[in-house]
Amino acid sequence: MIPAIKDDPFQLRILIIDDDQEVRSSLQTVLETLGYATQTAASGEDGLHAIGHSAFDLVLCDLRLPGLSGLEVLKQKSSPVPLILMTAYGSQDIATQAAHAGAFDYISKPINPDDLVFVLKKFEEFERLKRENDALKASLSEKYSFKNIVAQSAGFKEIFETIKRLSPFNTTVMITGESGTGKELLARAIHESSPRRGKPFIAINCGAIPENLMESELFGHKKGAFTDASRDKKGLFEEANGGTLFLDEVGELPLHLQVKLLRALQEQTIRRVGDEQSITIDVRLVSATLRNLENDAQEGRFREDLLYRLNVVSIHLPPLRERVEDIALLVEHFLQKHSKRLGVPLKKAGPDVMKILLEYEWKGNARELENCMERALVLSQGDEISLEALPEAVIRRHAKRAHSTTSTPTDSNDNLSIKQRTASLEIDLIQRALQKTGGNRTHAAKILEISHRALLYKLKEYGLSGGDAEPKDG
Ligand SMILES: Nc1ncnc2c1ncn2[C@@H]1O[C@H](COP(=O)(O)OP(=O)(O)OP(=O)(O)O)[C@@H](O)[C@H]1O
Ligand SMILES: [Mg+2]
Repeated sequence: MIPAIKDDPFQLRILIIDDDQEVRSSLQTVLETLGYATQTAASGEDGLHAIGHSAFDLVLCDLRLPGLSGLEVLKQKSSPVPLILMTAYGSQDIATQAAHAGAFDYISKPINPDDLVFVLKKFEEFERLKRENDALKASLSEKYSFKNIVAQSAGFKEIFETIKRLSPFNTTVMITGESGTGKELLARAIHESSPRRGKPFIAINCGAIPENLMESELFGHKKGAFTDASRDKKGLFEEANGGTLFLDEVGELPLHLQVKLLRALQEQTIRRVGDEQSITIDVRLVSATLRNLENDAQEGRFREDLLYRLNVVSIHLPPLRERVEDIALLVEHFLQKHSKRLGVPLKKAGPDVMKILLEYEWKGNARELENCMERALVLSQGDEISLEALPEAVIRRHAKRAHSTTSTPTDSNDNLSIKQRTASLEIDLIQRALQKTGGNRTHAAKILEISHRALLYKLKEYGLSGGDAEPKDG
């Protein structure tokens, strides 16, 4: 057996499949002299096994092999790695067959070194373009994402701008928004884009900690301060020193702690429970709330002076139903995120599923959509998300709506969002136009009476484009 390839990520790796020992070793010598890493296999079967077990950039495979032929290897290989056929029978016929079967190229035997170098150059050029293209795609997706936040809606673009502008400062930020809109994600993004990145980001949910433990949790305590205080303990303010402290559901903080929090913010010092000494702290505070704290302040449940301190800058995260243009991006993002995490193949959401997702209300916002996609990924078979894999509630809502729009002339659909209803109508019309024109976008745009550009934009916005099965313009 010839030893396996050594691990250098910058070296292109080539698998040589040939039953002739002499051909194998001479090719190996030439290729290694040219700077490639190589591995060899003496039969089609062994070759397939090698392709299934390690990553190659290229396969050089003999056409005539005792067991599985080169064409067979080409058809059966489990990865998209490009394959060059080597043939002593270099007729036009074989060349055509090889091209049809998806070979990258072919080369005649006995191998002329110049020919080999030429084919390899061509392959490297192809590889370079492919990598450039991948990098370009990655930078495109970067455009719509900021520190893991995926969005393209105007509302979010403004939020990204705000974060970038305030990132160098220690300004206290208050984030409001419904459950699941991404408040914690945003708090992290603020931290990550500030000079404090690299220092701790500490999150605490003020609603989840019993009132009597809250003070010690935030500010720490001295040994003996109360019955259970068997030793000195740092509070979260100290843990977060130099970094950012995220106070989630800050509206749940009891009034007496609101006073202490205000003092900590004003004086940049805290005192552990049971301690006389003050400790200087350097913490940026970001807080979040689902409640209307202005109301709470008016009704005496929340200190007005603290509120002013906390929302020096306030950012409101709009609910998902008000930013339909983010849904398709999020669907793709969550599918990718969870297919990676679960180690299952990536699946796409086809137009039928996407239409339902775009129309649904998402009361639980991005979190609900995320759960829905994770579940659908696991439950769907094949490479598309199936309708049946969506939760009952999502489907039922849709069925009800579809029924009510077709059965009654006066529309009893109770979703009155102009944005969502328009999106749904547009998707319908676009799909019908594409169907009518057999997928020809230029003609479809004419029928729809919009520009070709506008159609492409909408296809992207609604997640209707992309994918290999995409019909081409003709
Ligand atoms: N714009 C977004 N891009 C990518 N992921 C998102 C986005 N918005 C939310 N998520 C994801 O949705 C989930 C919920 O987000 P997060 O916990 O930040 O919401 P929240 O507003 O803090 O919710 P709650 O009020 O219930 O605490 C997380 O997994 C988060 O990563
Ligand atoms: Mg949260």
